Parts: sequence; structure tokens; C-alpha cells
Amino acid sequence: MSEPLNPETLFGSTRTSPAVRQVYGVSGTGKTVFLCESLRKACRSKKFGPKHRFVVFDVKHDGYETLAPPVSNVATAIQQLDKQKISVIHPSMDEADDALDDIISWLFDVSDYDEDFSATLILEESSTFIGSSVGSIPPSVKRFATQGRSKGLTLLLVNQRALSNKWCDTQSSSITCFRMAIPDRKMLLDRWGIRSEDIDMRLKEKKFSFAHFDLESLSLSYFDPIQLPKLRLPVVKEKSRYSGLLRNPFL
Ligand SMILES: Nc1ncnc2c1ncn2[C@@H]1O[C@H](COP(=O)(O)OP(=O)(O)OP(=O)(O)O)[C@@H](O)[C@H]1O
Ligand SMILES: [Mg+2]
Repeated sequence: MSEPLNPETLFGSTRTSPAVRQVYGVSGTGKTVFLCESLRKACRSKKFGPKHRFVVFDVKHDGYETLAPPVSNVATAIQQLDKQKISVIHPSMDEADDALDDIISWLFDVSDYDEDFSATLILEESSTFIGSSVGSIPPSVKRFATQGRSKGLTLLLVNQRALSNKWCDTQSSSITCFRMAIPDRKMLLDRWGIRSEDIDMRLKEKKFSFAHFDLESLSLSYFDPIQLPKLRLPVVKEKSRYSGLLRNPFL
């Protein structure tokens, strides 16, 4: 197994390679834990400039709460991102489409305004928004995939199943895969010539391990499961509603 997959490879933008990265694996194989702990490291890493921001857009409301207290609307997230490195958005299902458009257009607005700005958007359960045809991709996601790269914007599409969208493949620079659903194996072979049976044989030896396939160099690497820290220290602490009351006003 290789060294841990470094957060810059996963979340950083080179401004030269495609803006999209795909992450998939069946339920419970460790995608969210891996992404959450990698984000915790990334938020503390100096490699991402002071103007880099991470946004988790999670319709499942599951697994990123230890990074920052989740917010339900984009307006609050935007306010937070002025100061915070990361925001976790838990949109309601009926507002999710609009909320995704809003956060993406804000990311573009800021990057137009400040060329040092860069950002990573983690889109959990991306099949909620993206179907199998080009026409099924929301215009905001298309814009992100095509124009994001030159703006330093990176999009991670996270899913239980491999995306069956060929257009997304053309905009992707890597696939990080955990144990895969059997029907997805044939697709990977047809699309990329990846022999998924071999990958799966290796991944099942070690629970929560994963493989990373660089679609530009066509290199495949295997990684050990990410180590869970004893304390999952938040990047952004929850503000206590009562902290003001507990302070002694006479001091
Ligand atoms: N690297 C790891 N070390 C220890 N335990 C882990 C690790 N990865 C995952 N787990 C355990 O497995 C559970 C499921 O992992 P996780 O939520 O990351 O799965 P998932 O792939 O995101 O699933 P889903 O597609 O349903 O969201 C976690 O709650 C945790 O208990
Ligand atoms: Mg998950």
C-alpha cells in the first residue's frame, strides 16, 4: 500500500487538470469517513492558501458534522465562509436544487472578484442531481465542470454507484473507489479498461481500504484505510448559545 493519499491531490486544483473528481463505493465502505478526515487535515494544511474554502453539500445529512456545525441554507454558509475555512450545508430535499445553484454561482462570483480565491465543493449523493445523460446535468454543475478548473474550483462527486454519465467522465481527473457494486465493474472495464475484479480482490482484504485511479496518467494506487483520530476535533467549534450568560458581567 502507498503513503496516505494527500489532501492536495484529492481536493486541490492544479488549474491544468479537469475540475471533477469522482468518489464511489457501496454503502458503508468508508467514503464519508475518509472524506471527512481528509477534509479535517486539509483545513489545517498550509498547502491550501488562506483564501481556499471547502464546502460540503450533503443532502444525506450524515457524517460531516464533526467538521463544523451544519447549516441548512446557503445564505448562512456564505456568511460563514467569509471567515471559516469550511461550511457543511445540510439542505432540505425540496430546496436542494436551488441551493446547489446558489452556492455554485457564489463560488464563481468570488473567484471572478478575487483571483487568489479557490475552493473545493464536495457533493454527496451526487446522483440526486446528475442522471445518465448530458441533459440531466444541472447547468450550474456543467458550468463548474467546464469552467471551474481555470478558476481554481474543484468538484468532488460522491456516490454509492459509479456515475453512468459519460460527459462527467470527460471532465474528471480521478476516481477514488471503495468496494464497488458488481454491475459497476463492467462499466469501469468498458469505460476505462479498469479490471475492477482485481481491485475488489485487493480492497476486500482490508476493510475501508480504497484505490485511487488517476485518469490522466492512468495510474492506479491502493491505500490503507484512513486512521480515525481519537478525538475528532472540529475545525469550526459550535458556538454556545449560553456562553454570554455564563460570563461574569462584573469582571
Ligand atoms: N477508516 C475507517 N476506520 C474505522 N471505521 C470506519 C472507517 N471508515 C468507515 N468506518 C465505519 O464504517 C461506518 C460507515 O462508513 P461511512 O459512513 O464512511 O460509509 P459510506 O461509504 O459513506 O456509506 P454511505 O454510502 O451509506 O454514506 C462509519 O460510521 C464507521 O463506523
Ligand atoms: Mg456516506
